[in-house]
Amino acid sequence: MTKSSEIILIISVICLFSLFGVIQAEAETSTQSQTHFKVDGKVYCDVCRTQFENRLSKPMSGAEVQLQCRNQTTDTITATVEGKTDEHGFYELLVERDHEDEICEMMLKKSTMDDCTEIPHESNAQEAARITITNNNGIADTTRHANPLFFLKKEASSECDEVFKELELLPEDISLS
Ligand SMILES: *[C@@H]1O[C@H](CO)[C@@H](O)[C@H](O)[C@H]1NC(C)=O
Repeated sequence: MTKSSEIILIISVICLFSLFGVIQAEAETSTQSQTHFKVDGKVYCDVCRTQFENRLSKPMSGAEVQLQCRNQTTDTITATVEGKTDEHGFYELLVERDHEDEICEMMLKKSTMDDCTEIPHESNAQEAARITITNNNGIADTTRHANPLFFLKKEASSECDEVFKELELLPEDISLS
């Protein structure tokens, strides 16, 4: 083989490899843009204002929820998906594309129970509402299970005393939290 044909061969091989590289990169972007995530969860009326599920928590049907993703640095909203619960208080949302490096949160929009409409705003409730919507964290499954969401009843029902006893909670602990 002459020197020049050797060089041509090397160049061709390099070109071929970079072509593969381009094809592969394109395939990756297209699968990424096609990625869909499913987010599911439940909405309850928190009859005892405990902000966690207990035996008196009532699944709320027809409740409106919203998933919102924000740019971590600019705080601008990058995605909003709305949904409604079924008769078991269960909802399912379809979220398009990967939301790595964004803050995504589930939030309550509208209650369907007259005396159970308060939305908890404590920082622990907000923390609990966070969901990670990306495959770039090693979770291959595209379904995400959100923590349960609670609308709070105006006042804890009297039957909650039993629940507090079972949970070894004092009503004072509840109203302070
Ligand atoms: C957030 O916004 C900044 C400024 O517009 C942009 O450079 C960055 O890529 C955005 N981040 C995400 C995760 O979209």
